[in-house]
Amino acid sequence: MIARIIAVEPFDIVVFGATGDLSQRKLLPALYERDKAGQVPPGARIIGTSRRPMSDAEFRDFARKAILQHVPSAEQSGTVLDDFLARLSYVPVDVAASKGWDGLGEALGDDAGRIRIFYLATSPDLFGEICDQLGAHGLVTERARVVVEKPIGKDLDSARALNDAIGRVFPEESIYRIDHYLGKETVQNLMALRFANALFEPLWNSSHIDHVQITVAESLGVEGRAGYYDGAGALRDMVQNHILQLLCLVAMEPPTSMEAAALSDEKLKVLKALKPITDGMVNTTTVRGQYRAGASAGGAVPGYLEELGDNTSHTETFVALKAQIDNWRWANVPFYLRTGKRLAARMSEIVVTFRAIPHSVFDESAGVISQNHLVIRLQPDEGVKLWLMIKDPGPGGMRLQHVPLDMSFAKAFNVRNPDAYERLVMDVVRGNQSLFMRRDVVEQAWTWVDPIIEAWKASKEPPKPYTAGTWGPSAAIALIERDGRTWHEDED
Ligand code: BG6
Repeated sequence: MIARIIAVEPFDIVVFGATGDLSQRKLLPALYERDKAGQVPPGARIIGTSRRPMSDAEFRDFARKAILQHVPSAEQSGTVLDDFLARLSYVPVDVAASKGWDGLGEALGDDAGRIRIFYLATSPDLFGEICDQLGAHGLVTERARVVVEKPIGKDLDSARALNDAIGRVFPEESIYRIDHYLGKETVQNLMALRFANALFEPLWNSSHIDHVQITVAESLGVEGRAGYYDGAGALRDMVQNHILQLLCLVAMEPPTSMEAAALSDEKLKVLKALKPITDGMVNTTTVRGQYRAGASAGGAVPGYLEELGDNTSHTETFVALKAQIDNWRWANVPFYLRTGKRLAARMSEIVVTFRAIPHSVFDESAGVISQNHLVIRLQPDEGVKLWLMIKDPGPGGMRLQHVPLDMSFAKAFNVRNPDAYERLVMDVVRGNQSLFMRRDVVEQAWTWVDPIIEAWKASKEPPKPYTAGTWGPSAAIALIERDGRTWHEDED
């Protein structure tokens, strides 16, 4: 199957933090892939900026190395790469010292009708100043857009301050807050599954669904980001954004359309309906963990505190939560959420478990009748499996088996699975905000997360230790088993 390519209008993208990690690992490779696919029109320009003085040729060389390192070799092409690099130029801008803005203005020129994207791949501390300077130098044209990455704040107050600072210069329709999970292919498939099929929607409620699990497990540790991570922790780093966005897509009412406003309105209602986790509930509905030394990918790995070089940190590298959505559709359907670093595998999935049959007509020799579940696998092995009971084939009486209707996307479509950034960057060019986070949605997510952090702080208890390479502290298993349920394990 061939993916359809729809070319976009010519654009200029200015990448602040162009020599940083995000630019090297994600943005430059994503733009290169879209160029290679024929989606980037002639005349589109990529302007790198950072504090470092660098010539255009040096920046192109830097970008070449990044692409050779981060794009799989089967997808590299020398001629495409040369053409892509010819689109690149570089302007040094020192945001703190307020230097270089005139040079950026000259590089951009004064074609007000052209799409202009400012991608802030920098520390959030610089977002406000960059936006102010862009405004003060008259660079924010009618078709200008700004893209910001998480973390959008570390609590509700700081998120509001950041949103205010960006909003002073850019209107909300021009602000693209990235949550890269929304650009993942299977996450968009979740919407197709729910809203392009008549099958699931009548069952998608508390009368038929027993519970939902969302797991985002990583096998890596903090990977040189301990400085940022220690001030954040798993709840802020993964739950406030990625996991709550996934929860919204599972739980929201059908939006009136796929327009950004319609989607954000529905997500906001879900977040507002999340039952607050207050002091009294924090011990029964949340588990925090921190990894100790162990083994990952076959090798010995140090614990979080050793990596950090500070054995007093109470930052959680794992969190499991039981969330409740207090509305008509989801009353008494728990949403179990968990995420962590240095777990047994890299695996992200959403599991929707349906209620047990009300009565069995089979006798004991037929075996156990398992509940149906729908597994939406984000990574690796993207796809959807619907687990059903069937009869064991052949003679020998009625024996039942639990088997999946398996739609593994790689097998079914035989197309390259694009990185989330490829989709998201092109959506910014197209002016489509559907897969981005609106201000009120981000702030509402903080409204739910803040009291959990406060309650943890007040309890003064350290996170529960778990050995690297396992599924987290045993308390996380107890959290779900207390309710007579278990975390989903792949049954293949
Ligand atoms: C980022 C987090 O948002 O998502 C990282 O800051 C995490 O800590 C990453 O590793 C996970 O993304 P992915 O796409 O590899 O699952």
